[in-house]
Amino acid sequence: MTAVLYVPRDSAARSVGADAVAQAIADEAAARGADVKIVRNGSRGMFWLEPLVEVETAAGRVAYGPVAAEDVPSLFDAGLLAGDGHHALALGLTEEIPFLKHQERLTFARVGVIDPLDLASLSAWGGLDGLKAALEMDGAAICAAIAESGLRGRGGAGFPAGIKWKTVHDQPTGQKYICCNADEGDSGTFADRMIMEGDPFTLIEGMAIAGLAVGAEDGYIYIRSEYPDAIATMRAAAELMEQAGWLGADIGGSGKTFRLHVRRGAGAYICGEESSMLESLEGKRGTVRAKPPIPAIHGLFGKPTVVNNVLTLATVPVILAKGADYYKGFGMGRSRGTKPFQLAGNIRHGGLVEKAFGVTLRQLIEEFGGGTASGRPFRAAQVGGPLGAYVDAAMLDLETDYENFAGNDAMLGHGGIVVFDDSVDMAAMARFAFEFCEIESCGKCTPCRIGAVRGKETVEKIQRGENVDANLELVADLCETMRDGSLCAMGGLTPMPVLSAMRLFPEDFNTTPLMAAE
Ligand SMILES: Cc1cc2nc3c(=O)[nH]c(=O)nc-3n(C[C@H](O)[C@H](O)[C@H](O)COP(=O)(O)O)c2cc1C
Ligand code: SF4
Repeated sequence: MTAVLYVPRDSAARSVGADAVAQAIADEAAARGADVKIVRNGSRGMFWLEPLVEVETAAGRVAYGPVAAEDVPSLFDAGLLAGDGHHALALGLTEEIPFLKHQERLTFARVGVIDPLDLASLSAWGGLDGLKAALEMDGAAICAAIAESGLRGRGGAGFPAGIKWKTVHDQPTGQKYICCNADEGDSGTFADRMIMEGDPFTLIEGMAIAGLAVGAEDGYIYIRSEYPDAIATMRAAAELMEQAGWLGADIGGSGKTFRLHVRRGAGAYICGEESSMLESLEGKRGTVRAKPPIPAIHGLFGKPTVVNNVLTLATVPVILAKGADYYKGFGMGRSRGTKPFQLAGNIRHGGLVEKAFGVTLRQLIEEFGGGTASGRPFRAAQVGGPLGAYVDAAMLDLETDYENFAGNDAMLGHGGIVVFDDSVDMAAMARFAFEFCEIESCGKCTPCRIGAVRGKETVEKIQRGENVDANLELVADLCETMRDGSLCAMGGLTPMPVLSAMRLFPEDFNTTPLMAAE
């Protein structure tokens, strides 16, 4: 009987040797005359266990990890092909690993489970059910279902997807676009990449549904240039979907059209800001457009455009397939459904956790993440990317909900959580926030372009112990100007990490003056 083994083709797994492990398994099987089929799946998102090798058994998939190529002969000796547990790397049934078992995976249901480019077996896993349902509905009904589900943009601001779609739907007919924002520049984030490499069909399906909803026949995916594997996987998936008749002039035999174009990003953080992304897609330099008009009315090439994050669009199929009420049944308050959180930084068990909104930071960092990787006490986490606030240990019981976080001067953003232990210097982190803005600013408005430079210099003065009180006041004042006077959230949100660091960790800014020290 053929033994079916899974070795991820996700770039995080490949970066730690998954290709060599797959090759070693193939070689070992050939040498022993064993009949094996190696499936290159996406990642389950348990990065400390990568490369994670799984073998199919009657009881379910059994996992081993982290596997190195040198481990392969001993794994074969220990009965790898039968899923025997007599090896130091044996982890038991994959689905029973606590990190995975306690998740609620809706958007990520198939990631790490399937061969991402095996369209033939997709329907066995519920693939295309959402698109088939959407093909039976008119655009207004699809928009209404998305609004009813409570789905909000997963890229940062949490704007209701249904309202955005309806705005585009209500524009006069003619050329409209769906643009998927896959620039994923936030620190500690990798969920977009994991979807694109692990289940590209769900994203394409979501974009096609969005096209049907608003009357757009063309979609663009703007993928950050640092993601060559994701770009290649999305291109291959789009080609397969087209060959199978799920993209192009007659999707699913419906007579309706949706074409997909995969574009490589320009390599700047600001190109993730939606209007800047549209400029870049048009072949121009990625600078921010003044709003209004909003992209829903005047977007790509001046036409009505839906701009959504990868996770937002990849969540659409499950809503159409299982119904708005099913999706709405997860979450808390006005934050409905599930959110893919990403655990990164100084964390023992880094990876992807999809959970209903409401899960606390403590559950994510301590229960799923296992605390710091260094074993030293937790001190801070930055949530929501480089423009997100720092939280301290007293905030660990905050329930993850957009409004709850906003009420605590923080934000969820794209769901990246970067953990720091007690060795972190928060004044250095505040300086870094300004420096990041200085480097990544598009340069269009003064508060951001100049403010970031002056802010960095002033924090450096504080670090040197120069006029600390006066300079702290100056930083606070500068932050107010940046927040109120910047054209976009790049300059507008940089104060968030700076002020949260100053507010929660004042002791790190209380430097003894150098003169006095001498
Ligand atoms: C500086 C900056 C960078 C951003 N980067 C991204 C990004 O990489 N990906 C993303 O989806 N949204 C990013 N956003 C948010 C987008 O402007 C936009 O709100 C989002 O793509 C809308 O999709 P959603 O409603 O599905 O979240 C960024 C915003 C700013 C201000
Ligand atoms: S805030 Fe910064 S990034 Fe945004 S438009 Fe102004 S200069 Fe550009």
